[in-house]
Amino acid sequence: MTGGGGAAPATLPPRSGPGPLEPTLRLLRAELTRRCPQDADGVDALGNAAMLPPGKLLRPLLFTESAAVAGMDREDTLTAALGIESLHVGSLVHDDVIDGDELRRGRPTVVARHGMPNAIVTGDALIIGAFQAVAESADGRIPGERQVAVVRTLAAAGVDLCRGQVMEDELRADPGSGLEPYLAMIALKTGALFRAACVGGAQLAGAPAAVEESLRRFAEHLGRAFQMTDDLLPLLSDTETSGKSPLSDVVNGRPTFPVLLCWQRADAGERARLHAALTGAVAPEEALETVRRLLEDTGALAAARAEAAAEGERARSALLDLPGTEARDALAAVAELSVDRDR
Ligand code: IPE
Ligand code: IPE
Ligand code: MG
Repeated sequence: MTGGGGAAPATLPPRSGPGPLEPTLRLLRAELTRRCPQDADGVDALGNAAMLPPGKLLRPLLFTESAAVAGMDREDTLTAALGIESLHVGSLVHDDVIDGDELRRGRPTVVARHGMPNAIVTGDALIIGAFQAVAESADGRIPGERQVAVVRTLAAAGVDLCRGQVMEDELRADPGSGLEPYLAMIALKTGALFRAACVGGAQLAGAPAAVEESLRRFAEHLGRAFQMTDDLLPLLSDTETSGKSPLSDVVNGRPTFPVLLCWQRADAGERARLHAALTGAVAPEEALETVRRLLEDTGALAAARAEAAAEGERARSALLDLPGTEARDALAAVAELSVDRDR
């Protein structure tokens, strides 16, 4: 459906679990703790509390390992890598304003805790801080034009993310909107930052064009696999584990990946119930229950899981064009983790 399918080649990088990510995660967490002191004031305090404790750190992992694929010392990538995390977290702070969500990473969202004006400004500061981090990265030890390339990549991704958020709003309450607009929307809303992490890492390292291109293809599939999986979390994971409200998508009328597949398979009566669930015609808990039942009955839930897994495998296949290094194994592990997760 989304291209490049078929059986996985026998030489796919082995499935490894999160093990290959541990050394870089340790570096990133230490640098994050250094950069986000918990005794700051004002907007810095709000931003630091949103950054730390961290989430899965997928984007900085992608940035650092993509740079490492091209031979860069991981230590030299950390500041810029956390810049992309800052952009991501800033976008989440704003996303929680948009979605009206009160829980993120198992703790109250900035908007729930500090109100709309502070959430807007905190998101702004985190997003702007991303560019500050890239400008500071590697302290004159890499050519300035590489930093400029990363700034350009992050800025374009940030604008794409905004385009995706507006597109998502246009698709609101329309479970029959179809897969094509959905795939275009998630490529912008979510894929953009995954691409920017991989391409930006390659650019900071001064990677050859072919390496950058392989990483870009990897990230395209990865972004899709990740968002398709994210759409499944409210159905497969509980709040305690996911750290988010399972009601958010139905309350906001989101035609998520499994909902779109359900629509394709549903009869007229089922479509009417799906539509009602996404348009506020029933209470949120009942709406989620209806969606859950319809997804099971039509087989859409299983189909969505299978396609997310297939996209994850396509991402891993794209890595075969890269030299077999520890960094490549780590990128493969990110792909695995993006699909095999409950938070
Ligand atoms: C959540 O991203 C937002 C989406 C793009 C769906 P993550 O699941 O990577 O969030 P954290 O950083 O681990 O909390
Ligand atoms: C995540 O979107 C936000 C961005 C990609 C900017 P979602 O609304 O789908 O993700 P969660 O569920 O809030 O993390
Ligand atoms: Mg949201």
